[in-house]
Amino acid sequence: MSDQSSKSKKILITSALPYVNNIPHLGNLICILSADVYARFERLNGNEVLSVVGTDEHGTTSEIKALEEGKTPQEVCDEYFAKHKEIYEWFSTSFNCIGRSSTATNAQVTQEIYGQLKENGFILEKTTTQYYDPLKKTFLADRFVKGTCPHCGFTDARGDQCDSCGKLLEPSQLKDAKSSISDAKPEQKETTHLYIDLPKIQKELAGWIGSRKSSWSKNAQGITQAWLDKGLEPRAITRDLSWGIAVPDVPNKVFYSWFDAPIAYIGITKHCLPDSWESWWKNDDKVELVQFMGKDNTQFHTILFPSFLLGTKQPYTFLNKLSVNEYLTYEGGKFSKSRNVGVFGNDAMESGLHPDAFRYYIMAVRPEGEDADFSWEDFANRLNKEFIGNFANLVNRTISFTNKFTDGEIAVDAQPIDGVTELFDKVKADYQLMNLKDALKGCMQLAKRGNQYFQENEPWKLIKEDPEKTKVVLANLVSFVKDLTIALTPITPKLCDDVFVQLNVKNQMWSDIGTSLPIGHKLNTEKPLLEKFSADKVAELKEKCGDVKEGEEFPLDLRVGKIIEIEQHPDAEKLYVEKIDLGDGEIRQIVSGLKEYYEAEELLGKKVIVVANLKAAKLRGVKSEGMILAGEDSEKRVKVLEAKTSKPGDSACFEGYFPNEKRITFEDFVKVKLKIQDGNVLFEKKKLQTKIENIKVGLGNGIVS
Ligand code: 2FM
Ligand code: ZN
Repeated sequence: MSDQSSKSKKILITSALPYVNNIPHLGNLICILSADVYARFERLNGNEVLSVVGTDEHGTTSEIKALEEGKTPQEVCDEYFAKHKEIYEWFSTSFNCIGRSSTATNAQVTQEIYGQLKENGFILEKTTTQYYDPLKKTFLADRFVKGTCPHCGFTDARGDQCDSCGKLLEPSQLKDAKSSISDAKPEQKETTHLYIDLPKIQKELAGWIGSRKSSWSKNAQGITQAWLDKGLEPRAITRDLSWGIAVPDVPNKVFYSWFDAPIAYIGITKHCLPDSWESWWKNDDKVELVQFMGKDNTQFHTILFPSFLLGTKQPYTFLNKLSVNEYLTYEGGKFSKSRNVGVFGNDAMESGLHPDAFRYYIMAVRPEGEDADFSWEDFANRLNKEFIGNFANLVNRTISFTNKFTDGEIAVDAQPIDGVTELFDKVKADYQLMNLKDALKGCMQLAKRGNQYFQENEPWKLIKEDPEKTKVVLANLVSFVKDLTIALTPITPKLCDDVFVQLNVKNQMWSDIGTSLPIGHKLNTEKPLLEKFSADKVAELKEKCGDVKEGEEFPLDLRVGKIIEIEQHPDAEKLYVEKIDLGDGEIRQIVSGLKEYYEAEELLGKKVIVVANLKAAKLRGVKSEGMILAGEDSEKRVKVLEAKTSKPGDSACFEGYFPNEKRITFEDFVKVKLKIQDGNVLFEKKKLQTKIENIKVGLGNGIVS
């Protein structure tokens, strides 16, 4: 044991802190479950682990929820924090600390970090104009200004968006604008905010990123590099709100929630372990910090949070390993809180399914490297076929045969089944690389191998011909089942504990894999692990969790993209290679045939429409990840489709349709016929639009090609 602990490492694991104002859905829970799987794996390896999660509680979203519910932000946060915690616990997570960003401890840590940034010259001041409520004497975030929508006349539209027609707004566009908190007419007023001087930190940050990024998932490296390449700008870290952490010496301002939320990993740890938090957070040499999050959180953890810490010049623990998951869709569409579509934590808790069933399926489809879809049918199929049909079946027949033929007793020293040692090594390596989906796949391959061994040896026949050999086969199988259960424990911990009870073993570690149970060891009675997921249950849960299909599905996922770089294709005279900014740090490379029609300078900076769900292809040896849409008229003039006011990343679709996000081939694409009429793009007489504008093309009539 002392040998074990002297070799053990300190591993600090965090999961992104979900916003407190909603019940988290399975899309949000991916990183929480992933962090937990990884923490359990590292504990199995005998490492000293601290895993941290909690709720992100400050900011406008909590204030709005409080207004809607007629409560104080504190009341709302207390209520929802309890719900989040209950959900994390229901999913059998094993976090050492589950905390909150709104504690006094986090306020103290946040203010201290700010103070050090200021002292070291990394804080700037800038003045801008914003809406202000003269009655309540407070600045108003866009959402807190209300009035009449200029598009549809809805009288209760918010300053950021109209809930009736869905269009995005600026508060200045509203007619009869009022403050939502007092009904007073808002004024425009100058306000001064504090900014972190990222340009001043960029060099040191880039050096640090260079030294660590090889342990980050590929998508995280790409997003971070795109941010660095664009060049960092000073970023506001304060807001004119009341719900938040006060900025020292500045009245009526609080820190921006993206300032105190990542700091809350430290604040939560300090709150939970007041005496030993520094051994985790100020111990970069000895502690490996491993962070899990969704894609949209990347730059906050690879650019902002490290900049906050670097700027303090204090010996904080910095990010080592980073796992960024892509998005999870629900039955081919989006999870939606407002439409109540998708599986939310409470739906899972009320589903009647075992928490480990969810853990199994979420890890089986974990969006690693690409988006993935949650589907109830797929869930039921995979659980029934893989977990129950393959793994649980092996467990059950191994234990029941041993109980029947050898009185449940291990009679000989077991030997590993052929070929499994390498597979166990591969599973371990996948866990270490945070390829959790592959680790699970490896476990299922192992289960298959175990079942093969069972079939090959036919213990039900062998027992009549060679009882001694049967004892060997069963001892090998029992030890193998123990090993495989150890490897699966991080993913399905409770069900694995049930197996350990049947095997009559306790406290298994990864290092026990490959060892035999002692001669004379007695098993307990076998018991089925899990009931099958029935078709009726699928229908019931599908109905309960809502259907995403509103309107009809349109086969293309069209998005606004800004052309930020153009080069000549190295091997094809008529082709350009463009770099397109698709928002949120996503940069795509697209090869286009626009060279015949545009000079590079004309295209640069244009916001065009990109087919974002086209399978990537190589065009004359250069990778192309999508297509830029252009129209062509009867005189063979070609112009690109353009967005003027929308942002990169905004979705464009036809009225009454929702975009298909699944990948399509070029052949699927050419089947979609789009027309141009009076400069508008039409599909079945409906116009192509984003939330804020119709997409135009500089041609009268024609087709989109
Ligand atoms: O995207 C989100 O849900 C954020 N609340 C994540 C914050 S992670 C960390 F910084 F707290
Ligand atoms: Zn409207």
